[in-house]
This record gives sequence, structure tokens and C-alpha cells, in this order.
Amino acid sequence: MPTTNDLPHCTYRDGNLHIDKVGAEELAERFGTPLYVYSATGIRANFTRLSGAFMALKPTLCYALKACGNVSVCRLLAGLGAGMDVVSGGELERAWLSSVDMSKVVFAGVGKTRAEIAAALSGAHSPLKGIVKDVSGRGPEGRGAVGLFNIESEGELRRIAQIAADLRVEASACIRVNPDVDAHTHKYTTTGKSENKFGIAIARAKEVIEAARAHAYLKVRGVHVHLGSPIASPKPYMEAIGVVLAMMDELNAKGAGLDTLNIGGGYGIDYGLATPATPEEFAAGIVPLLAGRVASGLRVFMEPGRCIVGNTGVLLTRVQYVKIGDKKRFVVCDAGMHTLIRPALYQAHHFVWPARTQSPPTRLAPPENAAGLVGTDVVGPVCESSDFLCQDRPLPVVEEGAVLAVFCAGAYGMSMASTYNDHPKPAEVLVDGKQVTLIRPRQELHELVTSELAAVGVA
Ligand code: LLP
Repeated sequence: MPTTNDLPHCTYRDGNLHIDKVGAEELAERFGTPLYVYSATGIRANFTRLSGAFMALKPTLCYALKACGNVSVCRLLAGLGAGMDVVSGGELERAWLSSVDMSKVVFAGVGKTRAEIAAALSGAHSPLKGIVKDVSGRGPEGRGAVGLFNIESEGELRRIAQIAADLRVEASACIRVNPDVDAHTHKYTTTGKSENKFGIAIARAKEVIEAARAHAYLKVRGVHVHLGSPIASPKPYMEAIGVVLAMMDELNAKGAGLDTLNIGGGYGIDYGLATPATPEEFAAGIVPLLAGRVASGLRVFMEPGRCIVGNTGVLLTRVQYVKIGDKKRFVVCDAGMHTLIRPALYQAHHFVWPARTQSPPTRLAPPENAAGLVGTDVVGPVCESSDFLCQDRPLPVVEEGAVLAVFCAGAYGMSMASTYNDHPKPAEVLVDGKQVTLIRPRQELHELVTSELAAVGVA
């Protein structure tokens, strides 16, 4: 059977889906469902491809671990030389636990608390101190400060400067500017327009950067810009880079010494509906704008998340019931909006297909010769009408007990999963060739209730 064009690490062999070299049904049987499965081969391939495409910029690729924060996935990427983009104290600790070089960590996010800032400057302030050690058996104490804060507001700048001075640790930062550039993505994931809460407007950012020179322990090294996600074309990046380079030039002419540009993440992937730019096409637009400057000392950072893990993850779910309604055919599964919220929240498209089928797809769409497809809503067990994985989709007829695969679920799948309606969170498995590793066990129901009982002395 051919490998799918869009998913090189997913193959239907004799009508059975394999992730790398392992059968999907076998995994569902062994670990139960719903189950997130990631391909290590795919993650490596995506990371290497992106690094290769942007090689001329020698960028620090800071994996946006909000896309899929499992420590084993992060550790795999840290081993390939990735830095990390974190947006909370929790993500900061995950980055550290994945043995990343902390100088390659960028800390973004609009709401950094004092405690999070202190932990990012000194592991002695980590909430995991004395509780958790990393793989090498070390506590967080000596890990050093993050490489860069992405500062989102003037209040945050003052707060970081103050905490850095109190701790007598130098904080390096980029100012996140809001360039008011439309990334043409879903309104909930657009971040670079002036009506969005992110960053500081360009005009104001200039004053902020100049004024920041007064702070002894805060060094503003450059500018950060992130427009949204997923973005289909290099054009918005090119527009935003043009705007911020002009600003940096103006400030540098006055001695600001800005040597760093973080161009953010958002690089789109193929979910099967539209074809976004490839890494090479993004690079073809972006690299020429920056290559000359890199040659004269500019440091470039990128924050890719989705394009590293998105197409490497498959969500496996088992059909519980097939229900024929008056107007629709519902396939009720054990995964739903609590497992993968993207369809409900962003009307996102994920290709869904049975793991065992007589009509194996060769790309993220029903095969053209597939017979007997029926319009189907694949829904979950949650008590909400927004609880669907897809609607009105032509699907083969499936029976109770069948395993369905939801493709391209590696990014913003498990990381956005909830326990709504008291469903414990799914397990996660990493497949590498033939090797299968359970990288997070299925949550047990008792984990959902014991702390509540303990809080009132019942446990
Ligand atoms: N950098 C910053 C500052 C970000 O806010 C994000 C994503 C990224 C990098 C990584 O973007 P990526 O390369 O993964 O596209 N939950 C939504 C996506 C929200 C993205 C939030 N920020 C979804 O499921 O589509």
C-alpha cells in the first residue's frame, strides 16, 4: 500500500493503518482509547526539514511546547538541538525537565506572574524545587536564567526589571511588538492585529525600548513578533518583518544595540483541505529579508509548534454506538471535544478514517474510488452539541467497536484536552520505528476526585 503523500509516517498496509511500523488497532487494543499516538520519525523529519529550509539564518528553533508538551516529545526535540518557547511557569518546568539548554528558552505570554518570572530567572525559585529532579538527577536550582523574555507590556517590563534587580540576575528580553498585520487565520488565533491583546504597538514600542535602557538588570536585545496560527503563506511574515526591521534600524541608529529578532511561529500544515506553504516556501519568502543581516550579526529565533508535531500525531478512538437520527447518521466515539477541542473551538478540519478499511486513503481525503460512503457526524460522549470531531463527512460504514483515526492531531490535541464531564485524560504513546513507548499513562478516575476528597478530610 502506498504511503500517504501528506503523512509520510502513516501508512495503510493491507487495509490497516500503521504509524511508523506499528499497527493502529494493535495500539488501541494494548493501551485503550482514546489514545494519542506520535511518530518519532515524523517529529525528527519535520524538525530537520524546517532547520534545513531556514539554515541560511542559523536560527535558534524554539519549539512552542504548547502544541504538545509531553516531556518525552520535548526531550526528543531538545536532543535534536531545539530550544523551547514557553508561555507559563508550568511550560517553563517542562522545558527544564526535557533537558533543554535554558539559554535557548524564550518565555512569552501576556500574564507572567511574579513567581513565574522569578523561576525563569533562577531555578532556586522553581515550584518544583525539592520535589522533582531532571533525568540527570539534578534539581532546578542551578539551571540558569531563560535566554529571553518576550515582553508583552510596559507593566511586565517594569516587573521583570524589578525582580531581576532584586535577584541580581541579568534578564535578557525581546519586546513583542504588535505590527497590526493580518495573518488571515481564524479570529481566535490571530494575534498580530491592533485589536489583539498581544504585544506593544510599534509606535509605543520604540519609546519603551529606549526607556528600558535605564534598567540596570534588564537588557533589551531585540524584537519579537508572532502573528497568529496557522498561517498559510509567507506574505504576512514578510510584511511584519519589513515593519519591525525598519523600527530596529531606527532605534539602532540611536545606539539601541538591538541584535535579536524573533519571528515567532504559526507555520501552517496540510490538514487535507487547503495546501499551505511548505517549509521551503516559507523560507523562500523570509530568508532573503534576513540573510544579509544575519551575516552581519543579527540573531534569529523562531517558535514553531504545529509544523513540528501536528502531522505526526494520530488520535485513535473507538466507536461506541452508531445512531441513525432523523436527519443525520451519528458515529458516537469515546473521543470528543474533551479529547480534541479544535473542531468545536475553531471549526477546524481533521481528516477522520477507520483504522481498518477496504478503502485505504493515500492522502488526507477519502480515496476517489471509495464506494459506499455515507454522510456521517463523528461525535463524542460529552453533553454539548459542539461535541464533534467532524460533521457531514463521507465515511465508510463502521460498526460499534471499530477504531477511527483522527489525523494531524499532534498539535493542540492533548495539550488542550480537558476532563470535562469527568472523563480522565487519554494516554499518549510515542512510536519510533517498531518501538512503542507509553509516554503518559491514561489518567485514572481516582486522580480526578482524590484531592477534592482530601480537601474536606474525606480521603
Ligand atoms: N509563538 C507564540 C508567541 C505563540 O503564541 C504560538 C502559538 C506559537 C509561537 C506557536 O504557533 P504554531 O507554530 O504552533 O502555529 N490552539 C490553536 C493554536 C493556538 C496557537 C497559540 N500560539 C489551534 O489549535 O489551532
